[in-house]
Amino acid sequence: MTVKDFGITKDGIATKLYTLKNNNLEISVTDFGSTLVSIVVPDRNNKPTDIVLGYDDVSGYETDDGYYFGCNVGRCANRIARGHFVLNNTEYNLDINNGPNNLHSGLNPYSKRVWTVENQNDTSITFSLESPHMDQGFPGALKMYVTYELLEDGFKINYNATPDKDTIINVTNHSYFNLNGEGSGTVLNHSVKIYADSFTPADETSIPTGEIEAVKDTPMDFNNFKTIGQDINKNYIPLKYANGYDHNWVLATAGDVDRTAVRLVSPETGICLSVRTTEPGIQIYSGNFLDGTIKGKGEIVYNPRTGICLESQHYPDSPNKPQWPSTVLRPGETYQSVCIYGFSIAE
Ligand code: GLA
Repeated sequence: MTVKDFGITKDGIATKLYTLKNNNLEISVTDFGSTLVSIVVPDRNNKPTDIVLGYDDVSGYETDDGYYFGCNVGRCANRIARGHFVLNNTEYNLDINNGPNNLHSGLNPYSKRVWTVENQNDTSITFSLESPHMDQGFPGALKMYVTYELLEDGFKINYNATPDKDTIINVTNHSYFNLNGEGSGTVLNHSVKIYADSFTPADETSIPTGEIEAVKDTPMDFNNFKTIGQDINKNYIPLKYANGYDHNWVLATAGDVDRTAVRLVSPETGICLSVRTTEPGIQIYSGNFLDGTIKGKGEIVYNPRTGICLESQHYPDSPNKPQWPSTVLRPGETYQSVCIYGFSIAE
């Protein structure tokens, strides 16, 4: 483990960048937001390649305007319709920050706070954050833990929390992957396989309709490898509404972390990523709103579709969809969500 200064926040707090390394990969994370800043893996010619978008120091993450590079999003990731839900007969209202809806819990995200380092060693680091009762509008205080742990050929993110009152929780990591190397053009040539027979169609504001729809014979079918670019511009309503891929797939793995949920492969570098998760769904977002106005690492401009997010999570708007896997967490229960990223090189 190496530790470097990552810059000082506007409030004068000194932040750090922690790097974990083994023979196969290196990841760097900061206590600002517990954010994943870089993943460096060798390509097929052994060239070290950083495969996630981000910024060079804390000021980029602090001023980030709605991109969430590498962020751990909580307390409830994705959209909640009209920023409103009912729990135990009480109505709760959240910030409206995305059209008429709440996105990624609103204007005071976990990702813009400085977290505490609870534990660190050569292979793992655990950050924690105290989230009080009514933080972002959610009931119940909880202490959120995020652990990054190096594995031989990848790494694991583990989320944990226990509330003191009934609450809602759904945490995910919002890294934008580009297996050609961050800052090197679009991800449209990446091949993807998603182990899912269905997805949750949504309205124009990306709120699921509540239906579960088969992917067969639609552009949403990635059961056989195909490139992200192959169907992305097809005249298909869900793609038009979201300006590309920005949808939740219902994973056939159904929370089995031993089974692969998604594979992503770059034909250029040969880098392959596999995702496994305890979560029932994954939001796959093809960076449609990266608009060429943001300068990321090394002052490189990030244009549309230059990164893809693979956000393991419960389905969007679950607090308003009682028929779906529940995002309710009660005192005495422990929230646990695991996402494992594995790396290899294509033959
Ligand atoms: C999520 C959403 C996208 C977009 C990004 C952040 O992935 O589904 O629509 O808002 O966050 O830019």
